[in-house]
Amino acid sequence: MSKEHPFVINEKTVIFHPAENSLLQQNAEFLATYVEEITGKNLKVETLSHTTPMNCIILNLNNTIHQKEGYELIIKPEYAMISASTEAGIFYGIQTLRKSIPFTTNYADIELPAAIIKDYPRFSYRGMMLDVCRHFFPVEFVKKYIDILALHNINHFHWHLTDDQGWRIEIKKYPRLTEISSQRKETVIGRNSGKYDGLPYGGFYTQEEIKEIITYAERQYITIIPEIDLPGHMLAALTAYPEFGCTGGPYEVATSWGVFKDVICIGNDQALQFLEDVLDEVTDLFPSQFIHIGGDEAPRDRWKKCPKCQARIKAEKLKADKLHTAEDHLQSYCMKRMNKFLETKGRKIIGWDEILEGNVAPGATVMSWRGTEGGIIAAELGHDVIMVPDNYAYFDYYQTDDLTDEPLGIGGFVDVEKVYNFEPIPAQFTNEEEKRFIMGNQANLWTEYISTPEHAEYMVLPRMAALAETQWTLPEKKDYQKFKNRLLHQMNIYKRKGYNYGKHLFNINAEYTPVINKKTINVSLSTIGKSTVYYTLNGIDPDISSKKYTQTLQLTETTTLKAFTIREKEGKSKVYQEEIRFNKATLCPLILNTEPAEKYKFKGAITLVDGLRGKDSPASGRWIGFYGTNMEAIIDLQKKPKYPGFQQKLI
Ligand code: ACM
Ligand code: ZN
Repeated sequence: MSKEHPFVINEKTVIFHPAENSLLQQNAEFLATYVEEITGKNLKVETLSHTTPMNCIILNLNNTIHQKEGYELIIKPEYAMISASTEAGIFYGIQTLRKSIPFTTNYADIELPAAIIKDYPRFSYRGMMLDVCRHFFPVEFVKKYIDILALHNINHFHWHLTDDQGWRIEIKKYPRLTEISSQRKETVIGRNSGKYDGLPYGGFYTQEEIKEIITYAERQYITIIPEIDLPGHMLAALTAYPEFGCTGGPYEVATSWGVFKDVICIGNDQALQFLEDVLDEVTDLFPSQFIHIGGDEAPRDRWKKCPKCQARIKAEKLKADKLHTAEDHLQSYCMKRMNKFLETKGRKIIGWDEILEGNVAPGATVMSWRGTEGGIIAAELGHDVIMVPDNYAYFDYYQTDDLTDEPLGIGGFVDVEKVYNFEPIPAQFTNEEEKRFIMGNQANLWTEYISTPEHAEYMVLPRMAALAETQWTLPEKKDYQKFKNRLLHQMNIYKRKGYNYGKHLFNINAEYTPVINKKTINVSLSTIGKSTVYYTLNGIDPDISSKKYTQTLQLTETTTLKAFTIREKEGKSKVYQEEIRFNKATLCPLILNTEPAEKYKFKGAITLVDGLRGKDSPASGRWIGFYGTNMEAIIDLQKKPKYPGFQQKLI
């Protein structure tokens, strides 16, 4: 450990930036704001003078630092200095400094230990998506969302702007998109319950507002990638312009959730012209090199029956092959045409992994959401890939498997640990050339069940912190336990900023390990930080006079485990409860004669005899799942059965 004195931030500390660099001046102002938020101190921002640096934080461009977004942070007793070859790099150094400042009371001076940090991101694409169609989020919240992204060193904001339930971007050439398509009559209650709330719902962003948001994001080195989802998820647009659908309508902006059969008529040149006109205005607005054109979940039903679409198939000689129908190729035709159009504007397309069904447009970047398989195939075909697999990166999925206190969600289960442990580069990619196709990863917030800013914040925080580590940090440097301890500080920043975040990590986490040869189920209990865990094994609610958890519990019989912890600030955690049941089959050897589906395999056969009951979500890992066939399992009860004939049947 260095014996050097710390750097002290007090009222007189000055933030220096080079003269005539307005971006670094902005960076310096961001830093001043962050310091004030955490410490209450209002530091001066000044241009760099050539006096001996004392009691200052210096922002300094230095082109000997090679990584474009990398930075060096040097903290000495006299000063702190952030160096980078780009303003973005300096911004990330500022974020690190921000996250290093301890929270103090009484406006005390801040001590930062002397240090040298050299840091750079693993991936060039670090993304986060927001769906503003299923529910609309006002400009102020979009800006707040961008601030949250910046805190997590995320550099791409994927803005899902159009969908069946609402069109949210003003397009001057098609005013009915905002008049009609941005509004829906009402919204279904719950999960397509058949009951509706009867309340008209809508909203859109004007082009002026969009420009304002783009500038707002740029200042925090975030590129906005707009998504115009085509040729499916277009019901809202078709409602205003029914002539662009295969049947001609009438259509209605969707009031429930799901995938809808009415899509763009690819046989209709005017419909394709419409798409190009929209993209034309989109590219005028958004400077991003990438434009997302969706491509997901476009049913082929209408195209199969539409004379215009069939004529297009014929004219373009689109033919079914072993893997794809002619209509699959029709979708590819549409994507390729949009790709060509966007190329003329110097842009590149991103599409969801469905764009691989057919002939994927040359140069397209694939966003792999239905697992990582699409991403693997795309990379093998030489396409760039962004990994967003639903089981790790869909933040609309539940963040806990205990749903008792959760707001209604779409389902699934993606907790902080799952997000943290996601590895964007597939294990089978061993050479650097393959790995390079993985540009990075992102998480998605779909908002069917998320109607307020507070709820959106709750779904993305703190999972975004775990996502950020998968995007920034090399796998060999990752450590979930250490991350959790740092997360405590990060959550203090959330609290100070007034963000609404999930507090599940303050509850008890239990890990169960069945030990077949010892006939025990081992339980380890933990919680974030150093808070003492109290537990009971007799079903009685624990309190601070209950046993303190110090080592792994070894259960040998049916037990009701309850546990909780208590913290000075957060108070009592939720009482954790689990009934561990021992029956004749528990911990007996079990052979599966049917392979579970890869997606629902989890820990495999042992899951069926591990003493734990399934939970609401199959993704909790308490179930295993099979596709298509009946399953057969053989359990060796290891005892002579009492019933005659039973043994023969078993063997
Ligand atoms: C998607 O989740 N439909 C990309
Ligand atoms: Zn058609």
